[in-house]
Amino acid sequence: MTQTVLLAGATGMLGSQIARCLLDQPDARVRLLVRGGDAGKRAALDPLLARGAEIIEGDLADRASLDRATRGVDVIVSAVQGGPDVIIDGQVALAEAGRRNGVRRILPSDFALDLFKATPGEHMVFDLRRAADERIAATGIEHVHVLQGGFMDLFKPGAGVIGGDGVVRFWGDGTQPIEVTGVEDTARMTARVALDRSVGSGKFAFAGDRISILGAADVVEAQTGRMFERRPLGSEADLRAAMAAAAKDAANPLEAVMLAYQLTMLTGQTALSDLQNDRYPDLKLESFAQFAARTLPRRAAA
Ligand SMILES: NC(=O)c1ccc[n+]([C@@H]2O[C@H](COP(=O)([O-])OP(=O)(O)OC[C@H]3O[C@@H](n4cnc5c(N)ncnc54)[C@H](OP(=O)(O)O)[C@@H]3O)[C@@H](O)[C@H]2O)c1
Repeated sequence: MTQTVLLAGATGMLGSQIARCLLDQPDARVRLLVRGGDAGKRAALDPLLARGAEIIEGDLADRASLDRATRGVDVIVSAVQGGPDVIIDGQVALAEAGRRNGVRRILPSDFALDLFKATPGEHMVFDLRRAADERIAATGIEHVHVLQGGFMDLFKPGAGVIGGDGVVRFWGDGTQPIEVTGVEDTARMTARVALDRSVGSGKFAFAGDRISILGAADVVEAQTGRMFERRPLGSEADLRAAMAAAAKDAANPLEAVMLAYQLTMLTGQTALSDLQNDRYPDLKLESFAQFAARTLPRRAAA
């Protein structure tokens, strides 16, 4: 039975891929909630419109637009990014509009390690999503939390975890594995889960691989032939001290967030469990080695 899916965040890095994957599903009608203004971003949506997507102009801060967008919708997928106004106020308003208009389910913009296991106050990004998720659940709408770990894409040299300057910096001994999944695979799974009526409210976790920072560096070296210096930054106590200092540095708010991610990688506290990797037999998740082989330059033959 065809379902109508409303996607918020279709101009974004992850959302644009979810939109494409939803359009690949024969049983989905796709509607995009898009903010007006930026002509370039709108032009990027043209291929989606050509494939049948419908645009509703709106904003999570504009309640009337959320009512327009959610009428006749079965499932909402949110891939938005932002501060408390977007992640909490905006997503809760979206869920409430959905509830008013008979939407069955929402997938909030979680897309992380198991943020529900994080210690409150330690990770601002996880705190925001947990606060939003609690309020969304309280509206009574079905809610599915897609948890895929870190994006493998961030382990490409220069993308965040492994330095573009040829240095891998890590806290602890760098061997704690975390779950990771490629952005494309995350989008593919999200499109399937969104439409899968047999998935109930709660966490929906999967992961293409489990890798440590140093393990990822080994894979990148084997694939590219480029060697990376390993540079330890200190113990968990040193990291926590750096986090405390960063929390007081109002001039550089991103530093605290980046350190909080490092802490999740170091402790393994937010590890995913009950992985649903095999739920859709035709959808095989890429390992990090496969991802690296597909996306990184190959080592020159000797
Ligand atoms: N686990 C990981 O390693 C990892 C890494 C990266 C991201 N993520 C997660 O993935 C999710 C998506 O992140 P992203 O990097 O793809 O985000 P992004 O590229 O920054 O895109 C954010 C999207 O949200 C939309 N948006 C923001 N405020 C809005 C509002 N008020 N009304 C309507 N739309 C609004 C933006 O629209 P405009 O184009 O109009 O601004 C854009 O389409 C987030 O939950 C993020 O935390 C996870």
